[in-house]
Amino acid sequence: MKYHIVTYGCQMNVHESEKIAGLLREAGYEGEAPIEQADIVVFNTCCIRENAENHAFGNIGALKKLKRQRKGMIIAVGGCMAQEEGKAALLIKKFPFIDIIFGTHNVAELPLLIDRKKREKKVVSLLDDRSETEDGAQPFRTSYPNAWVNITYGCNNFCTYCIVPYVRGREKSRKAERILDELRALVEAGYKEITLLGQNVNSYRDGETDFPALLDRVASIDGKFRVRFMTSHPKDFSAELVAVMKKHEKICNLLHLPAQSGSSRILSLMNRRYTREEYLEKAALFKREIPGAELTTDLIVGFPTETEEEFEETLSLVEEADFSSAFTFIYSPRTGTKAAEMEGQIPEEVSKARIARLIEQVNENTRRKSEGYVGKTIEVLCEDFDEKKGLYLGREPLGRMGYFASEKNCVGEFVRMKVMRANGVSLYGKLIEENS
Ligand code: SAH
Ligand code: SF4
Ligand code: F3S
Repeated sequence: MKYHIVTYGCQMNVHESEKIAGLLREAGYEGEAPIEQADIVVFNTCCIRENAENHAFGNIGALKKLKRQRKGMIIAVGGCMAQEEGKAALLIKKFPFIDIIFGTHNVAELPLLIDRKKREKKVVSLLDDRSETEDGAQPFRTSYPNAWVNITYGCNNFCTYCIVPYVRGREKSRKAERILDELRALVEAGYKEITLLGQNVNSYRDGETDFPALLDRVASIDGKFRVRFMTSHPKDFSAELVAVMKKHEKICNLLHLPAQSGSSRILSLMNRRYTREEYLEKAALFKREIPGAELTTDLIVGFPTETEEEFEETLSLVEEADFSSAFTFIYSPRTGTKAAEMEGQIPEEVSKARIARLIEQVNENTRRKSEGYVGKTIEVLCEDFDEKKGLYLGREPLGRMGYFASEKNCVGEFVRMKVMRANGVSLYGKLIEENS
């Protein structure tokens, strides 16, 4: 009995798929197989933008023939799209061959649902919210030497464009002790990079422990490892957090701080609860306190009523905030969100032209910053071997990917590399021997 998991969306989903794999293994599935040979195929879906949904629809639809040939194969659909209002019914109507639908709040129930499927024709199980922050699902981790760890679930921010609060429920923080126990075990097991996950890590709270306090305790765990976290909402990004980042060498000096827009009017319509000026002040505080630190961001173009001038404010923000890279998106209306009802939706051609200009601006920054690495020595955490390039690869603390040749397998090790050449976010170089 083998499984195949198809994952869409963010790191949260990537980690959730590790939990799904863990649950399946506990339920008796022995390992992964290509989709054609799998006994169960699980789609872990995303609905953040329309194209994420279209992707999933396309790939689920493509299984129709395979399912006809292999009647015993189970097809399960979970994740954010499955949780979205009305989507389960639509999925079943479009793809009657789906066997199981589960949501974001009951991933741990999957083995039970598989069991129910033996007796029932179709199993649909969706909960309104999660009652527990510990569901007992043991992840089968596939991202060594990095480990993803949830600190919060859900989101309370209701940015007007965003569907996440509707499909992930209200924000809930895990107990600090549970998080720290998990982390100690991971470090003990040899993981070298911990990434703390939450839609807005800055609003973490367990009694007296807020996010800076949690991060301080995380980075105080003994051992050589790196700490990263995402995502940090600018409205809650504080001087205390900067102080903790500054205090610990283990915490990477790379901050992902999604700005979304450079226009205060658009930010207000987005319900982001900060202005351009406030954003820039926080960015400046961060860079002033931690020399050499870098910022990355998420930016949306074509939000309802965005004018050309307001879009240009986003362009100039890229310069002013000095982002080292950015994820850029065309606004995609999501049913049920406030922005989808707003007047002044922007035509697609306009948004496409805007994003092309924005990408060019961002790439320019990335290129310039990467060039600055040439000749420098960086510390890379080796994470894989690229067969095509014939080179090992790994990230430096500020998120760039370093490629280098090595005689011995160094996956999971920190190595020092001298940068010879830069290409986009990739740096190419040669290893420096530890004892030289
Ligand atoms: N919780 C995180 C990110 C969640 S979604 C945060 O607050 O930053 C990741 C990114 O997708 C967002 O930062 C936003 O830039 C983008 N996004 C979310 N909804 C979108 C929509 N309807 N259209 C286009 N981009 C969207
Ligand atoms: Fe969406 Fe805003 Fe929550 Fe991020 S903070 S998940 S963008 S509602
Ligand atoms: Fe993530 Fe997509 Fe859900 S971005 S939280 S998987 S809607």
